[in-house]
Amino acid sequence: MNAMRVAIAGATGAVGRTMLGILQERDFPVDELTLLASERTAGTRLRFRDREHTVGVLSPEALEGADLALASCGSAIAQTWVPQAAEAGTICVDNSSAFRMEPWAELVIPEVNPEALERGAKVYAVPNCTIITALMALAPLHRAAGLRAVSLSSYQSVSGAGGKGVRELTEQVEKLHGMEDDLANPDPAALPVGEVFGKTIAYNVVAKIDVFDEETGFTFEEIKVQREGRRILSMPSLDIWATCVRVPVPVGHSVSLHATFRQPLSVIEARELLSRAEGVQLRDDPANDVYPSPLEAAGIDDVLVGRIRQPEGREDELLLFA
Ligand SMILES: NC(=O)c1ccc[n+]([C@@H]2O[C@H](COP(=O)([O-])OP(=O)(O)OC[C@H]3O[C@@H](n4cnc5c(N)ncnc54)[C@H](OP(=O)(O)O)[C@@H]3O)[C@@H](O)[C@H]2O)c1
Repeated sequence: MNAMRVAIAGATGAVGRTMLGILQERDFPVDELTLLASERTAGTRLRFRDREHTVGVLSPEALEGADLALASCGSAIAQTWVPQAAEAGTICVDNSSAFRMEPWAELVIPEVNPEALERGAKVYAVPNCTIITALMALAPLHRAAGLRAVSLSSYQSVSGAGGKGVRELTEQVEKLHGMEDDLANPDPAALPVGEVFGKTIAYNVVAKIDVFDEETGFTFEEIKVQREGRRILSMPSLDIWATCVRVPVPVGHSVSLHATFRQPLSVIEARELLSRAEGVQLRDDPANDVYPSPLEAAGIDDVLVGRIRQPEGREDELLLFA
C-alpha cells in the first residue's frame, strides 16, 4: 500500500485516540498525519510514532489533500464536511450514524460484507457497535446454514457514549461509594442522575439507549441494529429484533443472541465454524469456565464468542454470547 495523507477528525475523543493507536499498532502507511477536533481541544499534543502532533481545528481547508479521513466527531458535525471532503476526492470512514443508510455510502464490516469495499464508494460508514458484535458472531454461521431470524439483547458499555459517558459512570460510582448497603432500599432523590444516561448508571442497568420511537416503543438504537443488520447482510426482510441496554461497564459491548437458521446447525458445527472465522476468538469451554466477558475483550480487536447452546429439540436454533 502506498503511503497516504491521513486525517483524523475527532482525534481527541475516545474513538479518535483509539484509531490513532491502531494506525500505529498496525504500522499503517501514514505519510502525513493531520489531527483535528473542535476549538475546545485544538492545540492538544498527541503522540504518533516518534513525534508529537498538534491537534488543529476541523475545517474543509484543514482536510484539503487528505487521501483518507477517519471521522469520529458525531453525526451532526460529520454531515457538515464528509460529503464535501468525499467530493474533493478524500476517502472518508465515518463512525457516526450519519451516512449508514445512504445509498451512496457503504455500510461495511470487512469480515462480513467485504464485497462492499469493492464498489468504489468514497464514504464508508462504520456500523453501530452492537450490530458489529452480533454479526461477527453470526455471519460465519449464516454462510453455512442461512440466517432466518435473530433476537438479541445487548449489554453496552458506557464508552459507547464517549468520554462523557465514562466520566458520568466514574463520578456516580464515587458519589455512591460507602452507600452500597442503602441501595437495597434507595431514596430516589439521593440517586445521582446525569445528563448522558438519564437514570443512574452506577450499580444499575438502563434499558434505553437513544430516544424512544413513539409509534413502536423501540429505541432508535434498537431500530439502528435492525436496519443496519438487514443492510449489511443484504436481507431487507430479515426478522431481527433487539433490546439494547446500557450497563455500568467502562469498555466493551456484549450481546446475547438467539438465532434461527434455514438449515440445522449443531453446537459442534458452530464451534468449528467460529474457530476458523477471521476476527473471532472462540471462548467456549464451559467445563473450564471459559466464556467471554467485556474485560477480557477490552483492548483487543477480535470479537470473543462463547456460551453456544441449542434449545432442546430445536436443531435449527442456537443461543450465543459475544
Ligand atoms: N465510543 C464508542 O465506543 C463509539 C463507537 C462507535 C461509534 N462511536 C461514534 O463515534 C463518534 C465519537 O465518539 P467518541 O466516543 O469518540 O466521542 P467523544 O469522546 O465525545 O469525542 C468526540 C470527538 O469529536 C470532536 N468534536 C466534537 N465536536 C466537534 C466539532 N464541532 N468540530 C470538530 N470536532 C468536534 C471532539 O473534539 P472536542 O473534544 O474538541 O470537542 C472529540 O475529539 C460518535 O458519533 C459516536 O457515536 C463511538
